[in-house]
Amino acid sequence: MNSKHIILIGFMGSGKSTVGNLLAEKLKLPFIDSDSWIETKENLSVSSIFESKGEAYFRGLEVDFLHWLSAQPKAVVAVGGGLPMFQNNIEVLKQIGTVIYLNVSLLTLIKRLKDEKNFRPLLKSIPDAEFHGFIEEMLSERVHLYKQAHLFMPNESSKPNNLVEKLINELVKTNKIIY
Ligand code: S3P
Repeated sequence: MNSKHIILIGFMGSGKSTVGNLLAEKLKLPFIDSDSWIETKENLSVSSIFESKGEAYFRGLEVDFLHWLSAQPKAVVAVGGGLPMFQNNIEVLKQIGTVIYLNVSLLTLIKRLKDEKNFRPLLKSIPDAEFHGFIEEMLSERVHLYKQAHLFMPNESSKPNNLVEKLINELVKTNKIIY
């Protein structure tokens, strides 16, 4: 079996954790989530880290996470939506794993994120009237990095089981896993 990680990237609300958990279960691999790893390490929520120590500090922790991850046995991994944007993180991800971009349309993202806005440090101060424009701009700044992934997987529907089946078929077809 290919020993590289299977890594999910994509914008906030693209379903990385849900899909990652299911995929890990199906492939009988551990599931690792960068935000959870950071929260455990710091003993603080992601929101509290942003509030008390700032975004730059959080981005440093994401780099620490990648160093740690590169020494771990094969796992399914979900990384925070901003992680691929900083330093050479996208290259590191591609070296240590098969990187899958869960791509979701702007309108679906907005629908999903509106209700969760207050739990997300980068979104909670955005007034409702500016929300659409803010997400649109942030997505357009990020999409070129997401598109460096090895595989693209649209995740518009709310049927993660179907998506995971499709994803496994794709990984088998491209020899990324033996299943
Ligand atoms: C962020 C995404 C979040 C989390 C943090 C910053 C981002 O993770 O890492 O709030 O910059 O897009 P999810 O994409 O898992 O929500």
